[in-house]
Amino acid sequence: MKATVKAHTNIALIKYWGKRDEALFLPTNNSLSVTLDKFYTITTVEFLPALQADEFYFNGELAEEKELMKISAFLDRVRANAKKPMFACVKSQNHVPTAAGFASSASGYAALAAASAKAIGLQLTDRELSQLARQGSGSASRSIFGGYVEWEKGSNADGSDCYAQQILKKDAWDLRILSVEVTTKAKKVLSREGMKRTVQTSPFFAGWLEAVEQDLIAIKEAINERDFTKLGQVVEANALKMHATTLGANPPFMYWQSATVEVMQEVQALREKGIEAYFTIDAGPNVKIVCQPEEEQVIHESLETLPVVQQIHHCRIGPGITYL
Ligand code: ADP
Ligand code: DP6
Repeated sequence: MKATVKAHTNIALIKYWGKRDEALFLPTNNSLSVTLDKFYTITTVEFLPALQADEFYFNGELAEEKELMKISAFLDRVRANAKKPMFACVKSQNHVPTAAGFASSASGYAALAAASAKAIGLQLTDRELSQLARQGSGSASRSIFGGYVEWEKGSNADGSDCYAQQILKKDAWDLRILSVEVTTKAKKVLSREGMKRTVQTSPFFAGWLEAVEQDLIAIKEAINERDFTKLGQVVEANALKMHATTLGANPPFMYWQSATVEVMQEVQALREKGIEAYFTIDAGPNVKIVCQPEEEQVIHESLETLPVVQQIHHCRIGPGITYL
């Protein structure tokens, strides 16, 4: 009744931003990501008949009550599915900064879904695991898989056609992602809250939904043709459109800091010099740069001259979940 799973984070090239059903984590749009090799979570779940309640050790310490409640709510789904009313001890270690826009919730819930399902004896396909992980955090549905992954929004009210799937293997196109850290402090507006406020109040949200359909078509063409310029242009524009919706929300908010903008401007300046770098930003101040292997080093050298840059993590496209 014990299992350990390693799951990697992912970075959305086309963002998931908005839910059509909050309880089931059903999104308003398809999204597309690459799984990252550098950042991951390792989670062990053990169901023990003797336990009177769930226990959660997060990054080596007993977790706060609110984190334990989230984990228990997730485990309730697993217990109901397996029809085994047993509590669990969960130990999770993030090899990624938590709640700072590095997608810890994606690797965290992908690892928890797979480890808890295995530990309780459920035999789920990767598609079913993706649907389970989704109900912990939407972006986690994509982290079950390696390589290039698309999360289908589906249209059924019960979420039965809403899952992620791999669209291209990781070695089929070797892109690099530089994760540029300007701060690791937890953000003020979590993604969940931010997207909810945007859906409910931002007049720009309708424009986002229209634009994202076009961006998906364009990025899939770029991936099929291995056209990096086209991919980069779509990725950067899609991230900017997502962030634009937050400015129209009530109350308005933004994930960028001045350091974020400095990095964005440096990327645009690199392009003016003929170096193909494109940025994307999740719900946080840190910036990810998508590039080709031959330009990775020169982009690194230029970024490390910026005083606001604390660290640059070099990522390749990574694998899906593994059972340890
Ligand atoms: P991030 O940018 O890190 O994904 P989010 O706001 O999307 O930030 O999610 C952060 C939240 O995800 C944390 O507050 C926590 O509730 C959850 N989380 C992160 N890592 C784990 C983990 N290893 N196991 C379970 N939950 C996790
Ligand atoms: C900006 O998956 O963290 O990173 O489903 O509420 O847990 P919840 O949100 P989450 O949101 C991710 C938002 C994003 C874009 C993306 O990863 O697609």
